[in-house]
Amino acid sequence: MRIPNTFNVEAQANTYLPIYSEEKLLIALAQYNNPFVLGGGSNMLITHNLDQPVFHILLKGITLEKETETCVWLKAQAGENWHRFVQYTLEQGYGGLENLSLIYGNVGAAPVQNIGAYGVELRDVMESCEAINIHTLQKRIFTNAECAFGYRESIFKGAEKGNYIITAVTFKLTKRNHLLHTQYGAIQQKLTDKGILSPTPQQVAAAVIEIRQSKLPNPSEIGNCGSFFKNPVILKTDYEKLFAQYPDLPSYPINEIQVKVPAGWLIEHCGLKGYRQGDAGVHAQQALVLVNYGKATGNDILAVAYYVKEIVQKQFSISLDFEVNIF
Ligand code: EPU
Repeated sequence: MRIPNTFNVEAQANTYLPIYSEEKLLIALAQYNNPFVLGGGSNMLITHNLDQPVFHILLKGITLEKETETCVWLKAQAGENWHRFVQYTLEQGYGGLENLSLIYGNVGAAPVQNIGAYGVELRDVMESCEAINIHTLQKRIFTNAECAFGYRESIFKGAEKGNYIITAVTFKLTKRNHLLHTQYGAIQQKLTDKGILSPTPQQVAAAVIEIRQSKLPNPSEIGNCGSFFKNPVILKTDYEKLFAQYPDLPSYPINEIQVKVPAGWLIEHCGLKGYRQGDAGVHAQQALVLVNYGKATGNDILAVAYYVKEIVQKQFSISLDFEVNIF
């Protein structure tokens, strides 16, 4: 069975199990060890065929758990498509997920890497998530705090890596008095251009969608996994030295001693935007994204990733980390 993945690389699974219910998941866990957990296949680069059993998590459903005058708590099953879920919440008039529009992948993967965009991260809107321990088969509810979220990090990538399969995520969303984040990137500009002074969550989402569509490749046309690298966090003192040389290098403050710099800017300033080795390359509009133009293998894309890493290290003495998981 071919493993679906948004990089659109060829990789086969010897054993493929579509999992539509929690009962099926428990049965599969009792039968197989060491599963490879597949959600939307949108944050993984697969470089070889897999001997491990592939559990494709396809649990579906959205339920209203609780409601007050101002908020709702919605639970989405792990196999729900992320963007379709976001659209559903916006159609109901709920606020909170608008900045996270058009991120690929499924709900269950969102807490793993604490997905984020335009100044909002999953940790800002997630109440809790449910997960099954693959060894004990016990269900555990993780509160937001227990997920130990960081920038594209969580307990599921850290201390509990490989131990849990997320089955559902509960979000706390607003029914009114929405807390909109329009300052990041070009959102405010887009709204101003349209003459929108007090936007609704739907209008913010529409602006985010326009921005993303203008620079991020659509995986159904060009294989990719969104940002391939994380934006590196460097010492303020190192940033100041670089800034003296490159006064247009953007930065985002982290704390008193560290700043985050955009990997896309670093890669572009190494002359690598649009760089290509056969069918694998650096996207021509957003240098943080690696792409498969057609028949690239996982290893072809990985070779480009290491090349980019090496050149950035040479030019800026900054080590880039992969955001995408490599298998
Ligand atoms: N930039 C360049 N050249 C490029 C790309 C970016 O100079 O080729 C500069 C931009 O001009 C801007 C800065 O880098 O000054 C930041 O760029 P942008 O706002 O496009 O965001 P990013 O840092 O490249 C991050 C996330 C994206 C998210 C955007 C918007 C990470 C690794 N990536 O990208 O998330 O959509 O911010 O919030 O943090 C993803 O994770 O898959 C993803 C797409």
